[in-house]
Amino acid sequence: MPAYNPPTDVANEDAPVDTSTQPTALEQTPQGSTAPPPIDPAAEALLPEPIPVQMRINGVDYQLRLRPWVTLLDLLRDRLDLTGTKKGCDHGQCGACTVIVDGRRINACLALAVAYDCADITTVEGLGSLAGNPEGLHPLQQAFIDCDAFQCGYCTPGQLCSAVGMMNEPAPVNAAEIRERMSGNICRCAAYPQIVEAVSRVVFSQRETAEEPPAAAVGQGEPQ
Ligand code: FES
Ligand code: FES
Repeated sequence: MPAYNPPTDVANEDAPVDTSTQPTALEQTPQGSTAPPPIDPAAEALLPEPIPVQMRINGVDYQLRLRPWVTLLDLLRDRLDLTGTKKGCDHGQCGACTVIVDGRRINACLALAVAYDCADITTVEGLGSLAGNPEGLHPLQQAFIDCDAFQCGYCTPGQLCSAVGMMNEPAPVNAAEIRERMSGNICRCAAYPQIVEAVSRVVFSQRETAEEPPAAAVGQGEPQ
């Protein structure tokens, strides 16, 4: 990516400001309006060009042109309408924005989208497909329902993606380790016991399944 050099001919920010021409607070944000303020074309001309980026998100291929400062979280929510991923702190501290990128869990609020060219991304909307059940739920989503592992639900998409990402890592040995490895995902409703129970159910049942000998091997070597 070419380096962005800030322009040198901008006005001195320390110069006194003529407040008589400044819009009032009401003019800046008219009641009921969410429209952004108009962009000065001269200022816009100084901005770096959008960068072409391609991504696969929940199995769908996207060709995008993105400004270099757009986070993956804002891209998902504001541009692609994938609002299942939540914005909590926007500072990498709560885990509400966790998504899975190339199999690994990351905080989307800390990720610049242009850094993920050609990435394969899964959000909470795509977890069912990830489990081979595009019309239904991922087993972890079902376990959250069965264990009543949420109250307001705001942290839940991040908890789910984080747990799915953890299942791609070396398996945790017990519930205490699950608790530690999910500690980047905060639940302000404190539904932690149920969350740990739901994740444990899926993680440990998968491990038991993986450890079971294949059916053809059962009985091999036993007396006839
Ligand atoms: S919104 Fe990303 S960690 Fe809180
Ligand atoms: S269920 Fe409310 S924040 Fe976790």
